[in-house]
Amino acid sequence: MAPLKTVAALLLGAVASVEGAQDWDHSLFTTSPPVYPSPNMTGVDAAGLAGWSAALEKAEAFLAKLTLEEKVVFTTGAPGPCVGNIAPIPRVGFKGLCLQDGPLSIRQATYASVFPAGLSTAASWDRELMHLRGKYLGEEFRGKGSQIYLGPVAGPLGRSALAGRNWEGFSPDPYLTGVAMEETIIGVQSTGVQAVAKHWIAYEQETQRNPEGTFDADTIPSVDQVQSVSSNVEDRTMHELYVWPFANAVRAGVSSVMSAYQRINGSYAGQNSKTLNGILKTELGFEGYVMSDWMGTHGGVASVEAGLDQTMPGAWNWEPHFDDVPSWYGGNLTTAVQNGTVAESRLDDMVKRVLTPYFLLGQDEGFPGVDPSSGIYPANNNFEPESDWYDLWSSAGALNSESNVDVRANHSKLIRELGAAGMVLIKNNGALPLSKPKDIAVLGNAAGDVENGLFYRDVNYAPGVLPVGGGSGTGRFENVVAPLEAIKARAKADGTHVQYILNNTRLITSGGIGQMIAPQPEACLVFVKAWASEGADRESLELDQNGNEVVENVAQNCSNTIVITNSGGQNVIPWHSHPNVTAILLAHFPGEEFGNSVVDILYGDVNPSGRLPYTLAEKESDYYFANITSSVSNPNDTNAWQSDFTERLLIDYRHFDYYNLSVPYEFGFGLSYTNYSLSDSITIKPVSNSSSLAGVPAPSNAPGGNPAIWEEVYKVTATVKNTGAVTGKAVPQLYIQLPASAGEGTPVKQLRSFDKVELTPGEEKTVTFTLTRRDLSIWDVVSQEWSVPTGTFGVHVGLSSRDIKAKSSFTI
Ligand code: NOJ
Repeated sequence: MAPLKTVAALLLGAVASVEGAQDWDHSLFTTSPPVYPSPNMTGVDAAGLAGWSAALEKAEAFLAKLTLEEKVVFTTGAPGPCVGNIAPIPRVGFKGLCLQDGPLSIRQATYASVFPAGLSTAASWDRELMHLRGKYLGEEFRGKGSQIYLGPVAGPLGRSALAGRNWEGFSPDPYLTGVAMEETIIGVQSTGVQAVAKHWIAYEQETQRNPEGTFDADTIPSVDQVQSVSSNVEDRTMHELYVWPFANAVRAGVSSVMSAYQRINGSYAGQNSKTLNGILKTELGFEGYVMSDWMGTHGGVASVEAGLDQTMPGAWNWEPHFDDVPSWYGGNLTTAVQNGTVAESRLDDMVKRVLTPYFLLGQDEGFPGVDPSSGIYPANNNFEPESDWYDLWSSAGALNSESNVDVRANHSKLIRELGAAGMVLIKNNGALPLSKPKDIAVLGNAAGDVENGLFYRDVNYAPGVLPVGGGSGTGRFENVVAPLEAIKARAKADGTHVQYILNNTRLITSGGIGQMIAPQPEACLVFVKAWASEGADRESLELDQNGNEVVENVAQNCSNTIVITNSGGQNVIPWHSHPNVTAILLAHFPGEEFGNSVVDILYGDVNPSGRLPYTLAEKESDYYFANITSSVSNPNDTNAWQSDFTERLLIDYRHFDYYNLSVPYEFGFGLSYTNYSLSDSITIKPVSNSSSLAGVPAPSNAPGGNPAIWEEVYKVTATVKNTGAVTGKAVPQLYIQLPASAGEGTPVKQLRSFDKVELTPGEEKTVTFTLTRRDLSIWDVVSQEWSVPTGTFGVHVGLSSRDIKAKSSFTI
C-alpha cells in the first residue's frame, strides 16, 4: 500500500494527506489527464442484466443498414413530444426514442403518479420498496411510451447539506446510495425501460453549474465566458465516495449515464476524457451510452473523442424564448466524419451503445406509442400537429392514438407505504402514537393543500405542503393528500375535535395560539417545511417561512407539541430538546400520499421504521466542512469558480466521527414504537474463496469494474430481537473500521451492509451481512486498483452509526 502522504500528482490529482484543508495544494487538482481513444463496447453482460452480446449483434446488423446521416440521428436530440427525443427513421422502421424526467415521476405528464423522492426512498433502508418503486416508475414510463427514464440520481451525493438537488438522490453515504441505485435500476429495467444514472460526476452544487450565457443566449459558450464551477477532487475521494454508487449502477446494467454540467478538475464533465473514457468506460467497463445533460455539451469533436455518445437536447427550440440552439452534433458531426476529423468507427460505437440497450430491453417490439399529450413538452418543443416534426413522429407510427393515458394503476398503495417508511421519528417522549385523542390542533403552513397548483416545476412555492421539491426532478400531481385533509378524515372516524391554524404569520404573532385555540388541545401537531430545488442551492438550513419561530411559539403554549418537518434534507432545529416538544418526525419528501403516510405513522397504523440517511447536526456551521463557497476572487476571471473538495473522504458522518464531534441525531438513527436489541456477540466467517485478499487482480472491463472486487469474502451474523410490545422493522447496520494501514484521513468507520427485518413482539432473527472485497478496500492511487489494506478490521454492528451493539474484528 502506498502511503497516502508520499504519492505525487497522479491522474486525477495528487494525494497529500486526506486530512484537512491545510494540506491541499489547489494547483495539483486543476487539470484532468487525457485518456484516449474512447473504448469500444464489446457486449459484456452486467451482473444485473444479461444478454448484451446478442443485443449488440442486433445493433450491429441494424447499424449496417444506416446511412451516415441516419447514424448521427442516434447521437443528437431532436424535436419531439418528450423532454428529450431521438427522431424516428421511418425508412428503417425506427420509431424514435422518448426521454422523460425522472427521477420520481414522469415529470410533467398527466395521469401519472408522483412517488416519494430519492431521499425518502433512502430513508426507508428497504431494498424491496426501493425495487418496487423502480418497477412501478418503469411501468408508468412504459405506459406513456417513454423508453428512457432520466434517473436515478447518485450525483449529487450530498457532499454539502445546502445543495439544491440532494433530495433527488439518496444519501451522502455511497454504500446506501449504491444499494438504492441498483435496486432502482433493476426495477425500472425489468419493465423494458432504460434507466439513466445521473449526473456523472462530482456534481455537488447548483451554484455556477453552467457557464455564464449557456441558458440565456443563442451562442455556443466561448472561452470568453465565465466557466462553470470546477469540482476539484483527488483520486481516492473520487473513487471511494463519488464513483462508488455509479459502479453499482453499471454493475446493475444501467443503459445510460448522463454527464454532469460542471467541470471536474478543470475539464467539463461532458468532455472529460479521464472520467468518461477512463473511469466510466474502461475501469467500470460501462457498455451503454453517455448522454449529456441538457445544454451541457460544450464541444463537438472534443466531447465525441472524450467519450460522450449523445448530446441532449440537440438542435431544437428548447423553450419558447430561446432561438434555435445550434447543436455540436447533428450536421456538424456528419461533417466531422466526412472530413475525417472523427473516425466513423467512433460514430459506430456511439450508435451501437445507444442501440444495444434498445434491443436488449426489447424496445423494438411492441413498445407503446408516446402519449401525444406529454404535458408541457409538445408545446414547448414547438411540436405542434401541423409541424414537419409532428408529421415525422406521426408517420413513423410513434404516437399513441390515445392522449392522457392513465398509468397510475394501484401505485398509490406503494407510495403511501414508502412515504411512511421514509419518515424518521427522531424524538418521542411517549407522545406518539396518538390514540383517539379528544382534541388536537394542526398548526403550520405545511399542513395545508398546495397553493400554487399541482405542477411544481420550476416555480417557487407558497404556503402548503411540499410532497416533493422543484426543478426537473419534480412531478405533476393528479392528487395530493395534504396532512390536514388526512388528519380530518381520521379525526372524523375517531370523533376527535380538530382545530387548526395554517397561517405562519398568525402563529408567530403575540398571543400565539393561546387566544385562538381553545380548549387546550391534547396534542399540537406542527407542520413546518423547507423547500429545495434544482437550479439553486439552499440559502440556509433554516426552516422556511419562520418555521422555527412557529415551533417555538407553539411549544410555549402547548405542552405536547409534536413537530413534523417536511424537507429535502438537513435542517437546523434548535428547539429539538425543548421539553414541550414531545415528538419530532422528519417527513422528508414523501410524494403524493403525504397526508395518508403521515397519518399512518402518527396514529400507529404503521410503526416508524425509517432511519436517517444523513447526519443531523446542531447548527449550520457544523456542516461547513463541505461548504458551497467557491473561491471567486476575481469575477472577471473566467476560471474563477473553483470548488476544492478539501474535506476529501470526510463528508457527513465520516466528518463528525473523524473529529469526534457530538451530534444530536446521527446517521442511521431512527426510533420506533417498539424496541430492538442486538446480540452483543457476532460471528465472522471468511467465505471459502476468499484466500487471496492482499490485492486484487488487474482490472478487467466487466460492468462495475474488476469482478474480483465484487466477490463475497466475509459473512457476519448477528441476532436482532424485538423487545417491545408491537411489531416493527429493525434496521441492523454493519460498519467497517479499516486498519491503520488504510492511511491517515481514512474515515473511522463506514457503512458496508445493512438489513431491514420485520419482527413481532419477542421475536428474534438472525441477520447475515455479506462483505465483498470492495467493502474492505481502499482505492490505491498508485496501482490504480482497489486494494485490501492489511491489518485488523473492526466490525461494528449496531442500530445506528453511533449505537454500536457489538464489536469484533478480523485480521488480514
Ligand atoms: C437538467 C437536469 O440536470 C437533468 O437532471 C434533467 O434530466 C434534464 N435537465 C432534462 O430535464
